[in-house]
Amino acid sequence: MFSGRIALVTGGGGGIGRAVCRILARDGAQVIAADLDSRAAEDTVNSMINPNTHLALGMNVADKASVEAGIKSALEALRAPPSLVANAAGITRDNFLLQMDQAAFSDVLDVNLKGTFLVTQAAVMALVEHGGEHGAVVNVSSISGKIGNMGQVNYAASKAGVIALTKTAAAELAKVGVRVNCVVPGFTETPMVETVPDKVRNMLIKLTPLRRFAQPEEVAEVMAFLLSDKSSFMTGASVEVTGGLAM
Ligand SMILES: NC(=O)c1ccc[n+]([C@@H]2O[C@H](COP(=O)([O-])OP(=O)(O)OC[C@H]3O[C@@H](n4cnc5c(N)ncnc54)[C@H](O)[C@@H]3O)[C@@H](O)[C@H]2O)c1
Repeated sequence: MFSGRIALVTGGGGGIGRAVCRILARDGAQVIAADLDSRAAEDTVNSMINPNTHLALGMNVADKASVEAGIKSALEALRAPPSLVANAAGITRDNFLLQMDQAAFSDVLDVNLKGTFLVTQAAVMALVEHGGEHGAVVNVSSISGKIGNMGQVNYAASKAGVIALTKTAAAELAKVGVRVNCVVPGFTETPMVETVPDKVRNMLIKLTPLRRFAQPEEVAEVMAFLLSDKSSFMTGASVEVTGGLAM
């Protein structure tokens, strides 16, 4: 399905990003796993089919220079820019609004929202400069970005921003042959939710019609679909992968 395509996956060392890397590699793509944690990105590459054909990169998505350096070194190593981009890097710094400090608010906006912007901009610029014919971007929002979530005023705002960014990028980038969509996951079994207390976890499961958290692969398969030509008439869409959760 992705034979001959190069894919850049940010957060490639994390739960959902790693699952995306593996699925894209399984389906024939050459994958660049990029993560702030370069060792985790290397572990991802080593866990993939044909590890020598893929690339692990250290990248801070919140830093323009780091993003541009990452795209440059990928171009040097693979001799072509990525035409598929999955923006799966993300962080939480949860606290109630009245207790949240400015840094916790800004850090989350910087990684989750600005990072999605910077990576999309740099990757699509490289694609256009190298005469790439078509591309696809998939972003990761969250159900918190649609319905809010107590203790996540920063995170929910960043993820609502990702939906709006996706719609706008889709409208602007159609003319250069790039589709842009996003997934809106519910709670997913990754390191990000390891600290959720049992009481909260059980409450969330009760609110989820499918009565469990998602496995990262269940989100990643939808992301792979949105990157593939199977979704060729989709752009600007936000696809919920929540097990029916609507808190
Ligand atoms: N797990 C969930 O329940 C859930 C639900 C909805 C949305 N999401 C979103 O899915 C995405 C993936 O999250 P996950 O659950 O796999 O979490 P995770 O913590 O397992 O993975 C996130 C990865 O992003 C990397 N990262 C953090 N800051 C970075 C930066 N500045 N530059 C580059 N990489 C950075 C981390 O090192 C980590 O490997 C995130 O955007 C998250 O907000 C997760």
